[in-house]
Amino acid sequence: MATMVHVIVGARPNQMKAAPLLKALRSSPDFHPVLVDTGQHYDHEMAGIFMEQFSMGKPDICLEVGSASHGVQTARILERYEAILIEHRPGAVIVIGDVNSTVACTLAAAKLGIFTVHLEAGLRSFDRGMPEELNRMVTDVLVDLLWTPSPDGDDHLRAMGVPEERIDRVGNIMIDTLVSMLPSVEAKEHWRTYGVPEHGYAVVTLHRPSNVDQPEVLSGILDLLLDQAQSLPMVWPLHPRTRARIEALGRLDEVEAATGLHLTPPLGYLEFMSCVASSRCVITDSGGIQEETTWLGVPCLTLRPNTERPITLTEGTNVLTTPSSLREDLKRALEGPTRHDVSIDLWDGGTAERCVTSLRKHLR
Ligand code: UD1
Repeated sequence: MATMVHVIVGARPNQMKAAPLLKALRSSPDFHPVLVDTGQHYDHEMAGIFMEQFSMGKPDICLEVGSASHGVQTARILERYEAILIEHRPGAVIVIGDVNSTVACTLAAAKLGIFTVHLEAGLRSFDRGMPEELNRMVTDVLVDLLWTPSPDGDDHLRAMGVPEERIDRVGNIMIDTLVSMLPSVEAKEHWRTYGVPEHGYAVVTLHRPSNVDQPEVLSGILDLLLDQAQSLPMVWPLHPRTRARIEALGRLDEVEAATGLHLTPPLGYLEFMSCVASSRCVITDSGGIQEETTWLGVPCLTLRPNTERPITLTEGTNVLTTPSSLREDLKRALEGPTRHDVSIDLWDGGTAERCVTSLRKHLR
């Protein structure tokens, strides 16, 4: 009989990782995958549009937790998901990434003794000020099987004392999505909507609390972007958190009217990746975009003091930057090549299949 496997999605960055895994599980006779959406992200443009573009189908279970403080949001997911687990008793639960839904569902499943797997295990920024770092640490302590994207992940888990047989390096699942969607991404040419020249604009994404929650930090970043956009056009899909913070600063009208700066609501995957793939460079504080730009060979400036994805620095196109060094780093990036030749082991489109093989082996 096929084993019931819950695949958990909560926030936007989970979607592009769940899609290829679900597809691979659905095509295996050994598994009956059930898509559980916690509802941490609930707007169509933050969640539903991805499920549509990836043909994931509607979630089988929706917990509808919505936004709240971290404690309340995590607690709501824990409470609601525990009830579902008691009713369903799945053979395995797969949690993804580092969002509040990841840690909450892990805790619920682990306490009930249900076999739990972490996809994208082992990543560490060693920055406990990031909510995601706490989520990663707790999740990796509790799960039974840890799927890592790169050797640094394995090293961090070994250092925690995780036994070797519970670590499987499966590769980078987000690259599965990029590999399979690339023809549609390239055909989309969404960047043309903004009237920017191919390879002659930057894509900006910012939403980390460390960049947007303190008014003086955010204001300094805005000054810089407004200035740079005069010579390098920028396409900036605004995360709801960032939009709210700019509005609170009283600077939304100014930013919306700025020369060279094209603000948009959050974009779907095809639209967003089309903008990234044809850009000159990307300025971001996202985790996943550091990996996507690396695979595409697009120069990436990450506005953070650290990264849980160091392979994008050593083998990829990523450079860490700060508000005070961004101007200089951007200049350097624009003097360098438009595209880099990058190839990283197991970032190859075959991760979902390796996950299914690993799950079969461990559940046997
Ligand atoms: C969450 C993740 C982060 C991920 C990011 C991607 C955690 C701890 N953080 O942060 O790792 O990089 O998602 O987007 O899990 N909001 C909407 N519509 C939505 C969702 C949120 O308007 O669909 C608003 C909320 O009301 C809140 C803000 O956006 O004001 C932030 O949302 P929240 O889910 O708290 O965290 P993110 O910053 O999105």
